[in-house]
Amino acid sequence: MPIKEKGIKILKNKNPHMPNITSFKKMKQKGEKIVMLTAYDYPSAKFAVEAQVDVILVGDSVGMVMHGYENTIQVTMEDMVQHCIATRKGAPEAFIIADMPFMTYHLSLDETKRNASELIIRGRANAVKIEGGNPSRLQAIHAIIDCEIPVVAHLGLTPQSINIFGGYKVQGKEEKEYQIILEQAYAVANAGAFMLVLEGIPEALGQEISEKISIPTIGIGAGRYTDGQVMVYHDILGMSDILPKFVKQYADLSKVIPDAIKAYIHDVKSNQFPAEEHIYFPIHKETE
Ligand code: KIV
Repeated sequence: MPIKEKGIKILKNKNPHMPNITSFKKMKQKGEKIVMLTAYDYPSAKFAVEAQVDVILVGDSVGMVMHGYENTIQVTMEDMVQHCIATRKGAPEAFIIADMPFMTYHLSLDETKRNASELIIRGRANAVKIEGGNPSRLQAIHAIIDCEIPVVAHLGLTPQSINIFGGYKVQGKEEKEYQIILEQAYAVANAGAFMLVLEGIPEALGQEISEKISIPTIGIGAGRYTDGQVMVYHDILGMSDILPKFVKQYADLSKVIPDAIKAYIHDVKSNQFPAEEHIYFPIHKETE
């Protein structure tokens, strides 16, 4: 039933559980945790929506968990656009954030804007995420927002920087690094990012940033005090090759899936599949 508000006819939301930028902010203010989960395709998005996650991230972790790349650096714009399209099909009404791949927001502001808009127009994401908080990243945030595209920032152990960090190392352990990340958190919030992902940092830093900045913080390996948490779909379902300390595994599909395939192989080899109920017009052999 359409409702009228200030002279504008708006359609009532079909899905009451469809947060957006405003609701994320309200959730932080009310102390309600925000749950983000990655999804990369039609089925993972459908499951995430069915379970009612608050927000979906089409992360560039897709490169590692779905393409078997060694890290996220090899992920391309086309990879991300295609995964966003598939994710949107499974989650037509969800708030979807898309990662901008390595080197797609570094070279020029024009290119940055063009790439961000691809993820929104072709990929049908609602917002983009970029890693880092140095001055050129702040310019990128401004440029993308100038195109009316909401931006999520990502600080701490930013996986696109592993070659600079010398591997997947917790960031912000030393006082100097801690202060730099804290200052970058203020800077990305002031530049207009509407949300901040904090990855691989000490709990105290996650807490201090979350208390001091007004935008919601979403942690992954950032302790208990961030405004929400994000996990990689394949990690919580036990489908990843590695299990970092910060992951809680809620299912072990790495056992369930091969067991199911083994059962199928067994049934075919032993003539138990297909059975009569799987056959069109089965031949009934005459009993002797
Ligand atoms: O790519 C990704 O999945 C991410 C999360 C780990 C935050 O960026």
